Amino acid sequence: MRYINNIFTIEKCKLNKVLKKFETPIFCYSGRKINENINNFKNSFKSFSPIICFSTKSNSNLEILKQIKKNGLGADVVSKGELMIALKAGINPKKIVFSGVGKTRSELIYAIEKNILLINCESKSEILEIENIARSKNKKVDIGIRLNPNTDAKTLKQISTGKKENKFGVSEKTLVEVSEYSRKSKYLNLKCLSVHIGSQILDYKPYQKMLNVLDKLIKKIDLNFDYIDLGGGMGIDYNKDNKKFNYKKYNQIIKKFLTKHKTKIIFEPGRSIIGDTAILISKIIYIKESSKKDFIIVDAAMNDFMRPALYGAKHKIIPLIKNNKMTNKKYDFVGPICETTDKFLTTNKFQKLNEKDYIIICDVGAYGSSLSSNYNIRPKLAEILIKGSKINVIKKRQKLEDII
Ligand code: LLP
Repeated sequence: MRYINNIFTIEKCKLNKVLKKFETPIFCYSGRKINENINNFKNSFKSFSPIICFSTKSNSNLEILKQIKKNGLGADVVSKGELMIALKAGINPKKIVFSGVGKTRSELIYAIEKNILLINCESKSEILEIENIARSKNKKVDIGIRLNPNTDAKTLKQISTGKKENKFGVSEKTLVEVSEYSRKSKYLNLKCLSVHIGSQILDYKPYQKMLNVLDKLIKKIDLNFDYIDLGGGMGIDYNKDNKKFNYKKYNQIIKKFLTKHKTKIIFEPGRSIIGDTAILISKIIYIKESSKKDFIIVDAAMNDFMRPALYGAKHKIIPLIKNNKMTNKKYDFVGPICETTDKFLTTNKFQKLNEKDYIIICDVGAYGSSLSSNYNIRPKLAEILIKGSKINVIKKRQKLEDII
């Protein structure tokens, strides 16, 4: 993805040409970038070849999941719907893990019937519910237990999950209790210890702390796990300031861990696979000038892309066509929704913009379309996938008639 002669281009497609056929706002992915990210991820950890379960919540577009499956990945799911779509994409059930604090009985029954790799449990009550279902089916179910390692992921507080005040996982004490209980059960096969401390983590040190906690705990309870599921969370360079996650270091500390514990590592990456593979193209509807700044009112809004409104996340905005006429005017890029938080970004330097110009919101592949809603009765967006010079519509724009 780069400018060629001042026009933003994905693979072999110049976006001004693409927009002759498609309306905005629109999500636009690069197929090549997805493959590249998966290869890089695999290569980073190739010495211990982990099971890589793509976190479906970060992007649950069926065609994207099919491409991810083609690259040999499994899936991390958190609902019956995600499990269904992962299976529909052709992902092998033996490469699917099911996480979440509130799996309902019917979701658990479905997962058990589908013989997935692991159900990662997050409470005593959930384990008892699984045992109860397994007994009724006279089946032994493979489970994992998610530990809350009380580790600060040093990321946004809204997307931290590994501290004891967070609802996720169980404490060490409960883990010891439930692992003893599961060991004795005829219907449970405790195979995995899982953790996930948060998302958009850029520093490897929280992972190091997490691995230390696991190391001590495993020694203390003297239990062998077939799998250790380290979750996802590896961050990406949204600000383009080269603050990149140190995969080399993470690989090293896991390798060290593996010299002490013989187990298979599972990862559940979402953002690191799909985050920087897509952009959101939007058109300027109006420019409203005010004394302090200009409001650039675009046709995309917080319902289409929630991260800035929900977490104060910053996503770069760039022009689709560069005109090289820079201005120091303050611009507020906002959507049409009746909420003050319906704002994407404030810039202090940008090229001079005009109504009907196109802009690009960067790095929206993860938690973009999957977090979108119909707020203000706005239809969900179309999504296109570019591969070389080919453009595939991988989701049609929702029709208003289907919502109303
Ligand atoms: N595994 C579990 C158990 C998770 O809860 C998550 C994300 C992942 C894996 C994938 O994490 P990733 O590799 O994508 O960081 N909507 C927020 C992020 C919420 C993350 C929720 N859990 C955002 O837009 O930043």
